[in-house]
Amino acid sequence: MRGLVTIMSITIIRGRILNFIEEPKAHDDESCYSYIEDGAVAVEGGKIIACEEYDAIRKQYQEVQTDDHRPNLILPGFIDTHLHFPQTQVIGSFGAKLLDWLNNYTFVEEQKYADPAHCKRMAGYFFDFLLKHGTTTAVAFCSVHKASAEAFFTEAERRNLRMIAGKVMMDRNAPEALCDTPQSSYDDSKALIEKWHGRGRAHYAISPRFAITSTPTQLEMAQALVREHPDCYMQTHLSENHDEIEYARELYQSARDYLDVYEMYDLLGPKSLFGHCIHLSERECEAMAETGSVAVFCPTSNLFLGSGLFDMDGLQAKGVRTAIATDIGGGTSYSMLKTLDEAYKILQLRNQILNPLKSFFMMTLGNARALSLEAQIGTLDAGSEADIVVLDSSATDAMALRMETVETLSEELFMLQTMGDDRAVSTVYIAGRMQDII
Ligand code: GUN
Ligand code: ZN
Repeated sequence: MRGLVTIMSITIIRGRILNFIEEPKAHDDESCYSYIEDGAVAVEGGKIIACEEYDAIRKQYQEVQTDDHRPNLILPGFIDTHLHFPQTQVIGSFGAKLLDWLNNYTFVEEQKYADPAHCKRMAGYFFDFLLKHGTTTAVAFCSVHKASAEAFFTEAERRNLRMIAGKVMMDRNAPEALCDTPQSSYDDSKALIEKWHGRGRAHYAISPRFAITSTPTQLEMAQALVREHPDCYMQTHLSENHDEIEYARELYQSARDYLDVYEMYDLLGPKSLFGHCIHLSERECEAMAETGSVAVFCPTSNLFLGSGLFDMDGLQAKGVRTAIATDIGGGTSYSMLKTLDEAYKILQLRNQILNPLKSFFMMTLGNARALSLEAQIGTLDAGSEADIVVLDSSATDAMALRMETVETLSEELFMLQTMGDDRAVSTVYIAGRMQDII
């Protein structure tokens, strides 16, 4: 009997290729990336099989379909390491600092996610927005409701997206309708892990929201989940706002500091993502560094909520791993370009300079490394999944005019970050498939 023969089709994606190899050490560090003026990526079965000069690819793969994006830039899809799925209708809520903002807007809106039909509708918009902004992988908090995580993973699977998410665990200091219990949070998280973690491109993140909304008993449950599922991520919030820090310390008086609340329950480690980390002490930084935990910088959110200025150079000098994220809906844009634009401005106020090569590294390979996913995403290397973004540096009249004076790649990237947003995203591929992002 003859076996089945699978014929995979190959696609060539042609344009100006930018692929990071290492973290840039300086603004003119040309060894950290490869740039090919007339380059191409060949894709087969959802993966990149080659990334070279166009002529070399053409010789190897004759008579295959070519998507010609010249003169646009081709990069790995952007990665957003912290945002909230149930906050699509919270963005731009006026006039509050973190704790009031949570109580007055966020906890009101998240209650709507008890309804699976609402979750389904919002999941459609959520992934449309991510893709439109060039984001192909994200790490999301869902609401407390299991249904919200179900809707999230179902829609991500339908679109074949590599996504990381979890339902938030929260059993106090929130409206009754948003509180689970230690046991139900364990049971629901466990059931979601068993169903979704490792299924297709999905990963689960065990998600105690933050110390203020979890009792010690609930953090014990989170600890048990992390112990039972060490390959899952753990995500929470840490040291975002002074009132939050004070409240967390009142609630956990035996903890040495805010981070110690999470340390007491063994929640630190290389797969642990801590949103914000603005006001960390020396001891907290040391513990983050020693455990390989990741501090996630959320610039638009930190400015919008008046939370403070992230000390990126300081944390990195102390050996803390960092990542960058939108934090929708405390954050104000789905765009990783806008996010890095605001990061640049925050670091200006700290007298730190974020060079454009490092910005583009951070939203691609840097964030992939923070998630330990660099073998799958964040590069255009052969073997990587073909999640790709195509950027048009002349997307608007103002950008096109500014491009007339741009002379180097670095200048172009900085202009793209400063002036660009979703209008600069001309095409997105997911596992080699061109998406309809209009
Ligand atoms: N801390 C706890 N929950 C949240 C949230 O939803 N957004 C932000 N920015 N901080 C938080
Ligand atoms: Zn957050």
